Amino acid sequence: MGEGAKVDKPNLYLVGFMGTGKTTLGRRLARELGFRFLDSDHEIEKRAGMKVAQIFEQMGEGAFRKMEREFIESGHPNSNCVVACGGGLVCRDDMPSLVRSKGVSVVLFSTAEEILQRVSGNKNRPLLNVPNPLERIRALMQERESFYLKAGIAILVDKALDATQARILRVYNSEVTLRAKSGNPR
Ligand code: S3P
Repeated sequence: MGEGAKVDKPNLYLVGFMGTGKTTLGRRLARELGFRFLDSDHEIEKRAGMKVAQIFEQMGEGAFRKMEREFIESGHPNSNCVVACGGGLVCRDDMPSLVRSKGVSVVLFSTAEEILQRVSGNKNRPLLNVPNPLERIRALMQERESFYLKAGIAILVDKALDATQARILRVYNSEVTLRAKSGNPR
């Protein structure tokens, strides 16, 4: 390998409920790893030419979920990326195993109250535009729990971002080492 040639390393997927910090942590981790940062919502918006809320309104949630699947299956590079996945992306069919098959997948968990604090005031989350968002968050979290638990390595989000970032990095590095030893890098 020539000097300066970039080694291909598996993608890091950040999964979890809205407002668990996937985007913020993803950007920071991408910087630290020297990876490209991708946000599934943002990539889908670029491709569709409209905001997530508009896609839900005009095409329905089913169409959006199909776009998420396409993005994971074939819409992004398969190495050297940190990918923040929309909160519902892994929550249907075989999506948990599909995401896991693409790289190292880490699932972020937070309490409903902390999530509400982080998402309040954001209008681009159509599922939480309801009179009682806390109730909705609790119901959705319960509905989705089994998917999240199948989607990767679970991590509890700490209030201190640095601590959570370091925890995710440790998980990523140890998974990469394990996989390299087993001869199956992804
Ligand atoms: C959704 C989460 C959102 C976005 C869409 C649906 C969900 O992404 O994909 O509003 O079903 O949980 P974030 O988790 O980035 O907010």
